[in-house]
Amino acid sequence: MQSRAKLLGHPIHPMLIVFPLGLLATAVAFDIVGLSTGDASWFGISFWMIAAGIIGGLLSAVFGLVDWWAIPSGTRAKAIGFWHGAGNVVVVLLFIASWFLRRATPQSPGYSALSLSFIAVVLALVTGWLGGELVDRLGVGVDNGANLNAPSSLSGRPATEDTRKLKRVAYGGHKPVGSKLLSLAFVPNGLLKMTDPKFVRDSFAQWNYPARFRVAVSA
Ligand code: HEM
Repeated sequence: MQSRAKLLGHPIHPMLIVFPLGLLATAVAFDIVGLSTGDASWFGISFWMIAAGIIGGLLSAVFGLVDWWAIPSGTRAKAIGFWHGAGNVVVVLLFIASWFLRRATPQSPGYSALSLSFIAVVLALVTGWLGGELVDRLGVGVDNGANLNAPSSLSGRPATEDTRKLKRVAYGGHKPVGSKLLSLAFVPNGLLKMTDPKFVRDSFAQWNYPARFRVAVSA
């Protein structure tokens, strides 16, 4: 099912999550470098990376929530989305707590501050997997009918269309058969022979084809 919150035809949530995921995971990596080298400046960098990651996390969570809201109730996607979203809120809260504990002396975080970050990043591995399950397995945020030859997201045409087949429709046409006019059209489900103008009109309204293709197949 397609996403609700989109920008230029693509879901906003996956665009924004790179900020919290990248910043917060790298902050933990820098903490580890700080611990292993004894160089306190690494902790100073990770302090500000955590701050930026928290802001990115809160912002991306809003768009995730909008998309989750639109998932039909009672589906596996709704449940997985719930655990993904709730888990990520916990991840952000743990980093907020870690940041507050570091605030007084960012260059020498205590063990509780470091532990909170480490626990959060391990939890994020699980919630991240759930996010991937939502998209790759359950098709959340994927346009309905997406296919390898779907037209551009900016075209205003539905993803169900197959650009190769549409080209053939453009070349398609009419053939007189006895007293009737037979129209041929390549549509997503294959070749259709259409003789009834009403059927043609209704079918193409339903598939939302652009006008120029409707002209090519009207009986
Ligand atoms: C820091 C917070 C969050 C992070 C880091 C995050 C991360 C992710 C990741 C990695 C994906 C998979 C993206 C892909 O494979 O393309 C995803 C998808 C998704 N997430 Fe989140 N997420 C966060 C918060 C939330 C919240 C609070 C919700 C609401 C319940 C939510 C709902 C969704 C939904 C519905 C999808 C499916 C894709 C889409 O929305 O277009 N996420 N998220």
